[in-house]
Amino acid sequence: MGAAPRPGVRADLSENAFCRDLLAGLSRSPKAVAPKYFYDAEGSALFDRICELPEYYPTRTERRILEQHGREIAEVVGPQADIVEFGAGSLEKIRIVLRSFEARALPRRYFPIDISATHLEEAARRLHAECPWLQVRPVAADYMQESQLSALDASTGRRVGFFPGSTIGNFEEPEALAFLRLAARLLEGGGLLVGVDLVKDPHTLHRAYNDAQGVTAAFNLNVLRRANAELSADFDLREFAHYAFYDPRKHRIEMHLLSRCAQTVHVAGQSFRFEEGESLHTENSHKFTIEGFRKLAVSAGFRPGPVWTDEARLFSVHWLESPAGGARASR
Ligand code: AVJ
Repeated sequence: MGAAPRPGVRADLSENAFCRDLLAGLSRSPKAVAPKYFYDAEGSALFDRICELPEYYPTRTERRILEQHGREIAEVVGPQADIVEFGAGSLEKIRIVLRSFEARALPRRYFPIDISATHLEEAARRLHAECPWLQVRPVAADYMQESQLSALDASTGRRVGFFPGSTIGNFEEPEALAFLRLAARLLEGGGLLVGVDLVKDPHTLHRAYNDAQGVTAAFNLNVLRRANAELSADFDLREFAHYAFYDPRKHRIEMHLLSRCAQTVHVAGQSFRFEEGESLHTENSHKFTIEGFRKLAVSAGFRPGPVWTDEARLFSVHWLESPAGGARASR
């Protein structure tokens, strides 16, 4: 505090999407911030730890599905594909998929899109070193912003999208539809391989977002730590509590940060009041039935193909075809 704001710093923050969205989200009632802002370097590392937790079944279940059905997946993807991954993270999951291809049918190019540019370049270099036959072209972008995806013009072959991890569950239905429509258009003549978490016993869901070690709590609170580091905010992390619950009517986990007391916080020079117990809504994680998800895909212009699940039906992986001419017609 105290120091006069430097003009340069102000200008930077006004261009900063996290700053813009957080200020808007704190001004609304109820307060909210989009989950994509969890993923700075620290948040991405915490998410990787979540994926290893005994309670967090989605990652390991999806991995097993991708391994067990690798041959069928390679079959629907087809030879010499250009793979576009939406929100690629550490590029771990594509490796599982790539292992399933026979030498004469390998994909040709791989475009990992991720909002966090820091690790993307390095991870892309490592992947190319392991798979020298694959052209790896990292795209640092928000995949919901079509204007940031011009790098995909270099993809001239059959395009196949990869959207694992049930990230689609983060969206409300209109946004999920908007994403699927955009994907159907980008992937015309190819298709989308998408991981979708399934509706299940609420206790299993509750445990997955309330782990005993408190890693999910740290992940949730990280968005405040990030605001302090990047936006000269002054959140006291000890004064906010992780709260996650399953709403069976909305078929979704909601994550919140609850203010432990009445307090005022500052972000980029603006003040925001929290009442005791007031929520900052940080994430929704929707769960689907297989039929429900296929219907959603149809309304976005896809033709649903095979679906793979695990024995316990915890998680699903869907192949959605985007017929040539079809996506454009359904807009
Ligand atoms: C990456 C959005 C799929 O919703 O399960 C994990 C994020 N949040 N634990 C999910 C998350 C809390 C995760 N997704």
